[in-house]
Amino acid sequence: MNIIKLNAIDSTNNFLKELSATQIIENFTTVVTENQLNGKGQRGASWVSENGKNLTFSIFIRHPEKNLNNLYIINIITSIAIIEALKEYHLNDLHIKWPNDILSENKKICGILVENTIKSNGKIQSIVGIGLNVNQRKFENLPQASSLAQLKNKVFDKDSLLKSIIQALKSNYKKRDDINFLWKKYHSLLFKMGIPTVFENKQQVKFMAIIQGVSSVGKLQLQLENDTIKEFDIKEIKMLY
Ligand code: BTN
Repeated sequence: MNIIKLNAIDSTNNFLKELSATQIIENFTTVVTENQLNGKGQRGASWVSENGKNLTFSIFIRHPEKNLNNLYIINIITSIAIIEALKEYHLNDLHIKWPNDILSENKKICGILVENTIKSNGKIQSIVGIGLNVNQRKFENLPQASSLAQLKNKVFDKDSLLKSIIQALKSNYKKRDDINFLWKKYHSLLFKMGIPTVFENKQQVKFMAIIQGVSSVGKLQLQLENDTIKEFDIKEIKMLY
């Protein structure tokens, strides 16, 4: 495993993106930092992590094929891999909250930010950014956030967790041709699948709907109160839970 450890950096995703633009790096090269100073989250949000307590890291994947059918499969593979790795550490009630937050006991313990680039030769590469709350105990103004330490009341070894996640990602990546198997697994882990749930749209209007699944491009498919099925992308709605 090629793991680059940095004491501090603005964002491991940005660092790895620049590194891969200037050098040919090994597939699954990983950059991890103790202190991420300007971490990026989904929807343009920032990702804040206490110095030294958590795992903030990014993994580089250079895809050999020019057509991956759909790039959303990288998000699917990553979410499944993290859940499989965390199961080994006996985390309970693990779910994927669309599109790819990882929850344990209904609390967010991990966020994923995948950034894909299509090169001029048609080749695709992905930077898979993962923020996993490991040993941080306090989350101010984040009532839905938690960590492994908070949930299991013990300190976790970050290095061994990191290696387990990279290993699980590599092994699920090998299954990328078996799209049906991966989608089935993703849907079986999807939080609130088939359960009436409250959502909020861009106009901050709340509505009730039932999750039917996620489309191949990553849109959430909801059955609305009038029984129609509508697809939403990440910028259009958020789940309230
Ligand atoms: C989310 O909003 O839930 C996604 C958070 C992703 C955070 C990780 S931490 C490592 C990597 N580097 C970043 O700047 N962001 C991702």
